[in-house]
Amino acid sequence: MISVSGLGMRFGNRQVLADINLDVADGEIVAIMGSSGGGKTTLLRCISGLIRPTSGMVQVDGIDVAKRPEEARKCMGLVFQSAALFDYMPVGQNVLFGIRRRLKAKPDEAKRIAEEALARVGLQGSEPLMPAELSGGMRKRVGIARAIALKPKVMLYDEPTTGLDPITTYNIDGLIATLRETLSVTSLIVSHDVTSVFRVADRIAFLHEGRLIFSGTAEEFRDSRETSIRELIEKSEAASLSSASSDRFA
Ligand SMILES: Nc1ncnc2c1ncn2[C@@H]1O[C@H](COP(=O)(O)OP(=O)(O)O)[C@@H](O)[C@H]1O
Ligand SMILES: [Mg+2]
Repeated sequence: MISVSGLGMRFGNRQVLADINLDVADGEIVAIMGSSGGGKTTLLRCISGLIRPTSGMVQVDGIDVAKRPEEARKCMGLVFQSAALFDYMPVGQNVLFGIRRRLKAKPDEAKRIAEEALARVGLQGSEPLMPAELSGGMRKRVGIARAIALKPKVMLYDEPTTGLDPITTYNIDGLIATLRETLSVTSLIVSHDVTSVFRVADRIAFLHEGRLIFSGTAEEFRDSRETSIRELIEKSEAASLSSASSDRFA
């Protein structure tokens, strides 16, 4: 469903991504992990066609993203790091916006599609709420509803759980997994949350200094000898130990 081959991205004289090869099968959930500034968001933006890579190729559902960007973009739903809602529009309008523009749906039909998308993320009836009234997790859900309303084949999530508490994170992970089942979408998730990735991803790809240094299952990831991967896993284990002990002594 997604095929990235020999992708490179340079900003000025700075090579941010080099020789990235990544294939994601239909219905698969793949997580991209890596250190901050490692090029994860840039890779997602290249795949989505928001920016054009300086070398290599991206195909989504057999469509060359650089050659047929409009068509490729129609297959993809994007969930940005900040939910990127229009703060002056109620939830319903936020979801309707893309449906009217992209699906060219009539008002009644658009309204029904928006209702269905909001119901799928557990926010039925939230149309009149303003974004400022929502919790972080709810904002993420609205962002997801807005994307799935357009019936994408591929969902691209940039840090969907960053900044959320563990329970909200757990719920968003559950939602991502459910959407794979109910909508049979293929998902690519950028994340640095090891617990969350182990829970939801079929496969993990790890970016380090602009190169993909690992691709494999959670188990293979856990056993990896790569220093940068070990550091991330150890940091995550230390964090969960310290939260477990603070629970115990609370
Ligand atoms: N439009 C841009 N122009 C110049 N440099 C950029 C641009 N976008 C990203 N970068 C640089 O590319 C590197 C990778 O950024 P990013 O993809 O956002 O990393 P990550 O999402 O892994 O934290 C960073 O050093 C960032 O400053
Ligand atoms: Mg990023």
